[in-house]
Amino acid sequence: MFDRFNRHIHYLRISVTDKCNLRCVYCMPAEGVPIMRHEDVLSFEEIEAFSRVAVTMGITKVRLTGGEPLVRRNVVTLVSMLAAINGIQDFAMTSNGVCMTEFAEDLAAAGLHRVNISLDAIDPERYAEITRGGDVSNVLAGITAARNAGLSPVKLNCVVQYSPEEPDARAVAEFAQKEGLEVRFIRRMDLSKGLFSVVIGGSGGDCARCNRLRLSCNGLVRPCLFNDLGFSVRELGPEEAIRRAVEEKPVCGDKSNALFHAIGG
Ligand code: 5AD
Ligand code: SF4
Repeated sequence: MFDRFNRHIHYLRISVTDKCNLRCVYCMPAEGVPIMRHEDVLSFEEIEAFSRVAVTMGITKVRLTGGEPLVRRNVVTLVSMLAAINGIQDFAMTSNGVCMTEFAEDLAAAGLHRVNISLDAIDPERYAEITRGGDVSNVLAGITAARNAGLSPVKLNCVVQYSPEEPDARAVAEFAQKEGLEVRFIRRMDLSKGLFSVVIGGSGGDCARCNRLRLSCNGLVRPCLFNDLGFSVRELGPEEAIRRAVEEKPVCGDKSNALFHAIGG
């Protein structure tokens, strides 16, 4: 698919839940996260049907996100349903890694190709501060488990306040180098203020080259993270929702009221 600005749209990010087992300071409020009604969340069958249509329309790359995708019940079943679709050349997941030791082998066996794991600090206290209580040792074990399961390449996502030269980011870079892992640095963004930036070493945030669509966990096809446009799969059907999202994909992001944990970053 090509949009009005001749961008080749072939990457679909699917948020499978707005829930998360961490509360990163830049993503979620400490408490009182509004939870979505269960009936508003797309079923696996709806996600699969949507993805099949998306692939026939030209999607070749799919990433599962959240919230934290591994907290969606039976997510491995969804992975195997999507892995059975012919035409997905790259099938990835972004996870905080907290539960990765438990899931890595099953995910690989179900047909997931690879994972990106979020890691903003190595120091246990700093990690706990940023994630409001997370245990970095689970994540480090999760990285090893993902790698041993063959979910490769394992890439790291590191959210920085301002620059990759900050102490926490440098420690992550050093760890990545030692382990032979790629790391992407992402500046903290504020969607509501329109503060967004390119992913350093990655492909996100570069509007002129943006190749993505997003499916939110409540079934909106969203052409841009920094724009409130969304087209309901349940109201329009997958094909029309995708067509409209591509047609109306803005030339560049501006700002939006969306929350990261509901549309998956
Ligand atoms: N700024 C930048 N990235 C964010 N993410 C979540 N919130 C933000 C934010 N405010 C992204 C990070 C994290 C992933 C789950 O979502 O990349 O690793
Ligand atoms: Fe959870 Fe990821 Fe948001 Fe952190 S950034 S609270 S791990 S969804």
